[in-house]
Parts: sequence; structure tokens; C-alpha cells
Amino acid sequence: MRALVILLLWAGAALAEPVRLEGHGGPIHATAVAPDGRSALTASFDNSVGLWTLPDGQPTWLDGHEAAVKSVIYLGPDRAASAGDDFTIIIWDLATGQALHRMTGHQGTINALDITPDGSMLVSASWDGTVGVWDPMTGQNLAMLGHHDGAVNDVSIRDGGVVSASADGTLRTSSFDAARQDVMHEHGLGITQVLVSPTGTWSAFGGVDGTVQVRGDGEVVADLSAGRRPILALATDPAGSILAIGDGEGHVTLVDTENWTIQRDIKASAKGPIWALSFTPDGTQLLIGGIDDTAVLWPVAAKGGPGLGQIQRAFLMDPDQMENGERQFKRKCAICHSLTPDSQRRAGPSLHGLFGRKAASVPGYTYSPALKAKGIVWTDDTIDRLFDEGPDHYVPGTKMPMQRITKSTDRQDLITYLKENTKG
Ligand code: HEC
Repeated sequence: MRALVILLLWAGAALAEPVRLEGHGGPIHATAVAPDGRSALTASFDNSVGLWTLPDGQPTWLDGHEAAVKSVIYLGPDRAASAGDDFTIIIWDLATGQALHRMTGHQGTINALDITPDGSMLVSASWDGTVGVWDPMTGQNLAMLGHHDGAVNDVSIRDGGVVSASADGTLRTSSFDAARQDVMHEHGLGITQVLVSPTGTWSAFGGVDGTVQVRGDGEVVADLSAGRRPILALATDPAGSILAIGDGEGHVTLVDTENWTIQRDIKASAKGPIWALSFTPDGTQLLIGGIDDTAVLWPVAAKGGPGLGQIQRAFLMDPDQMENGERQFKRKCAICHSLTPDSQRRAGPSLHGLFGRKAASVPGYTYSPALKAKGIVWTDDTIDRLFDEGPDHYVPGTKMPMQRITKSTDRQDLITYLKENTKG
């Protein structure tokens, strides 16, 4: 019966076309679809969260993070939480776009979030080795569960507590107050993903080695390992009837959870990984994100794939085919800076017209007070010093990440390339 319902839903969805959510200026690490299916969220390396109306895909930008956003989740139709490389969780009022709470306490990247079904507790998985437990209404920290020996990559709510997946090669369980803790599974190699089904009847995990295993009642009920590594995303629909798997090689695999058979297996991204998968409430569409700046809302029964990974990402290009200056820029700067005057969303300001420009003067970009106060003009010499000393030394307090280019020939080649390509 259920299989028939799924088939009928899929037959209807087959007529729909994929919807492309365009506007981010960096790859997309996480997605979420609202419980009512009327909006979606995307978390991007461009430091912003996109809030999209569905199905038309009109964006609003939630700006507040100071580094790449790695995770995003709905707390209800009008509230959401996001977190990432700035070690901070932000609770958003989606009606106004305002940040209601900024929660700090983690000492490392926050890679994943989950929320209890009643919305009373938010949990966070951090590369600092802990799982945070928070009250999403007040922003208060309730506990830090430090029971892993390595980075925690993912966390999923289960009855009365959490299951967490770690680079230490284990899945561990804990009650919210840390009173009861246990090792659920020892895999040996790093575990990247864990997902407890909404009904609690099965749980799945994925590893750096490409393992995907499903367990129910303490036993392995399915082994879906396909040798594609690493596993980067696991998702299911609210009914728990389909399991979607995304991997580092760009595949999306859909599995019927009634009999654990593979329904579909596609190369969703021609190049680069799939990091983000989330279903619409009816399970007919999947919001997919990865190396592209675009997320795709893809009807799972559509004839074609979502067509991601067509664009050459600079840092995937063959370095031997580039001059050194271009290589320096594409490897070290392009993810955060564009060279054109357009307002492509990136973490840093456009470098168009850089030479002779006063520091911190691009209209509409929110600079750090430190860079604004520095009072310099960008020239060969100041750019050379910026990367000889490193931004953190040359402009203490800047938002630009620490990075030095130690070889002076690399700095000179980069400056020559920038001069050629930022001309006003
Ligand atoms: C991870 C993101 C990131 C990377 C990578 C990065 N930057 Fe930046 N950059 C920023 C941010 C954010 C700012 C704004 C700094 C501030 O407000 O303090 C900035 C500011 C600048 C500025 C000052 C611009 C202005 O309008 O005053 C220059 C110049 C610059 N970056 C050059 C570079 C170059 C060249 C590279 C590569 C070697 C690079 N950046 C790599 C994020 C980045």
C-alpha cells in the first residue's frame, strides 16, 4: 500500500521541473525545507543563510555569521537556527529576518544541528569534540556533552537524548543531561553522518570510507555501502519512508526504507561533493546543495538529474594550466572575493578597482571597525604587507582570516594578477 502511495506521488512529481535557487556566492553546505513546505533555507560558504519562498524561489538573506555557515534547521514555520565556522549558533525570526539569539560556547566549527520534535531542545555537533544542548527560546546553554575523543561531525535526536557521529570512529548515545552515556557502535574509521528515523525504528550512519549502514533494534538491517567516499549527507522525509544518501563523488541515492531497495541512483553533480539533502514534507522533492552556488529543488521522480556541478569551480581547475598569480588568487582568495563590480555574494568585498582605493570603502559592504580605522590606501606595497605579515598582524581585529603568503615571488605574482584583473 505504502509503495503504491509513493509511486503515485512520484508519478505526479515527474511532471514538475527542478527549481534552481540562485544567488549565493559560495558553495552550499546545508539545506532545510519548512514543515509546511512553503519556504526553504540554505547555508553557504558565503557566510549567509538564504531564505527562499517556494515554489518560486525568491530569496531573502540572513546576514549575521562571520564565517562559512555549515548547518541550518527550522525550529517552526517562523523560526530557524544556523551555525558554522564562527563557532556561533544564531536563532532567526524568519518573519523579520532578525537574529533573536547568538549562542556561543563551542570552541570549533559547528557542523550540524538538530531539534527535538517538541521544539524544546536544540543540539549542536562541533569539531571541538562536544555536543551542545541549548534552549532555543532563551538561547541558554543547558549542557556540553564531551564524551567523544575527536571532532563531532553530526548529531541526531533519539528518544530522550542524542546519537552523535565522530571522527573518533564511534557513534555514541547520551541523555540530554549526560547522566546516561554509551557507545552505540564502533566503526573504527571516522563517522561523518548519523540519522535516526522520525519513527525511531531505524538509524543510519555514513563514514569517511563510504560505508552506509542501517541499524534497527541493535542489528544491521541494511548495508548500502557503494564504495563512494566520503558519505556527506543523509536525509529522510517526515514519514521516514525514503532514505537519501549524498557522497563526495556527487551521487544521490534514494532507498525505499520498507525493503531497503535502491529506487534511484544518480550522478547529481558532475563535479564535486553533495553536502546537503532535505526533503519536502510530502517526500516528492529533494533540496540538494553542494559545490555549486545554486541549490536545486529536484522532483525525485524527474526524468533528468538536478544538473549540479557543471560550472568549473576555480579551485577544482588544473593548477598546471594557470600562471602562478592566477593560481594564488583562485586557490587562496576566489572563494571570498570577486573581481567584478557586481554584487555577487561573497564573504569579502569585491576587489574591483582595488589599486588606489581607500581601504574599507566598497559601498554596502559591512567592514570590521578595525579595517575602517586603519586609514590606508591599497597599493602594491600595502597588499604586499597584508600577506607578508598576515591580515591578523597587519590589521589586528580584521574579519579577514589569518593567512600569510610567505614567498615574496608568490605575493608579487598575485599582485600582478590582481592589477590586471581588477582594473576599474
Ligand atoms: C575566507 C574568506 C577570505 C579569504 C579566503 C580572503 N579574504 Fe580578503 N577579505 C575577507 C573579508 C571578510 C574582508 C573584510 C575584512 C574586514 O572588514 O576587516 C576582506 C578584505 C580584503 C581586502 C580589503 C578590501 C577593502 O575593500 O578594503 C583585501 C585587499 C583582500 N581582502 C584581499 C584578499 C586576497 C588577495 C586574498 C587571497 C590571498 C584574500 N583576501 C582572501 C575575506 C577573505
